[in-house]
Amino acid sequence: MIIEPKIRGFICLTAHPKGCEQNVVNQIDYVKSKEPVKGPSKVLVIGASTGFGLASRITSAFGSNAATVGVFYEKPPAPGKTASPGWYNSAAFEEQAHKAGLYARSINGDAFSDEIKQKTIELIKADLGQVDLVIYSLASPRRTNPKTGVTHNSVLKPIGDTTFSNKTVDFHTGKVSEVSIAPANEEEIENTVAVMGGDDWEMWIDDLKAAGLLAEGAVTVAYSYIGPSVTEAVYRKGTIGRAKDHLEATAFKISDNLSDLHGKAYVSVNKALVTQASSAIPVIPLYISLLYKVMKEKGVHEGTIEQIQRLFADRLYKNEVPLDEAGRIRIDDWEMDEDVQEKVAALWAEATDETLPQIGDLQGYKKDFLNLFGFDVQGVDYEKDVDEMVAIPGLV
Ligand code: NAD
Ligand code: NA
Repeated sequence: MIIEPKIRGFICLTAHPKGCEQNVVNQIDYVKSKEPVKGPSKVLVIGASTGFGLASRITSAFGSNAATVGVFYEKPPAPGKTASPGWYNSAAFEEQAHKAGLYARSINGDAFSDEIKQKTIELIKADLGQVDLVIYSLASPRRTNPKTGVTHNSVLKPIGDTTFSNKTVDFHTGKVSEVSIAPANEEEIENTVAVMGGDDWEMWIDDLKAAGLLAEGAVTVAYSYIGPSVTEAVYRKGTIGRAKDHLEATAFKISDNLSDLHGKAYVSVNKALVTQASSAIPVIPLYISLLYKVMKEKGVHEGTIEQIQRLFADRLYKNEVPLDEAGRIRIDDWEMDEDVQEKVAALWAEATDETLPQIGDLQGYKKDFLNLFGFDVQGVDYEKDVDEMVAIPGLV
């Protein structure tokens, strides 16, 4: 079929298999253009099909020759209906990994469930014995806690007494408008922490450890975000930030649990990037479009693969892992650079419908958004008939 983007708000209902494949190949080529990293050898990536998780899987495999197991929750294709992008990304990744002689298997299902944890444990036990790196990179709006059966829905709201108001942009139209978000109540805060906090990460590590699947010195990493003052009320000091506080606190708990193995849990604070998860957060797209402009002009812009390659090469697999005062790894250092932030803050004050096309990188934002779904990727012939029924070779 001929596949075109069908955009509805901040999602796209279609995905292009060839475009997704090209994106994966580009990421692999980037990693291979860098010095190999003496990194992990057997890796489990939870949330492996898009964004930072996919980049972590690619960096492990093609930067350190690691065997990888990927867990994700993606929609398979049906005749006349495309799969979700993470499905096509994973198919392309596995094909490339197998071609390179690397072990790669995938599990598609709800990572929050006991069933998928059990399935993953059985696969690792049978095929790899143990893993030495576990990347936790889930982004989800809801989670059913397998112990209680309760389904929690997350919200993106400020915390406190005051309604948050600031600028935001519809990145399709370039229209800048004022958004107002009323504060969350206690229940909404708790639910968001239950979804995006560290509870599930801890369950995964507990289960893997109990099954004897964590190697001596095993490391686990989850991803967090901090960001600037303009997004603080709705992000870091809002409900999602409360969940990130919980995630960061969980790293210390997990590290304690891994101490007998000389293992360690880290949180890495990453840069703001266009992903399916971040497009849905109010205010963030406007911030990102200004940030991209400034970082590209300074020559310090990075995408997910550049970020994660740097995480492995300059942070995780350095002799000593450099940490901030709160014990976190920082690869948002170039985003949070004082000069970058001053410039973004000045642009923020000026941003209107009229000025944004000049002062912001709306084009870059849109392109990255389309790229997430395999569209607008250089070298792909979108006029050509493609088979939507792509299989993931190593799907368990
Ligand atoms: P993403 O949407 O690109 O990736 C989410 C992944 O989780 C996908 O592989 C998806 O299949 C998987 N997933 C979602 N629900 C699942 C479920 N129930 N079971 C199994 N798999 C499931 O998101 P991302 O932006 O790469 O986010 C990953 C992490 O990085 C998040 O913790 C996020 O907060 C963090 N982070 C993101 C940014 C950013 O700007 N995008 C910045 C810093 C940190
Ligand atoms: Na991810």
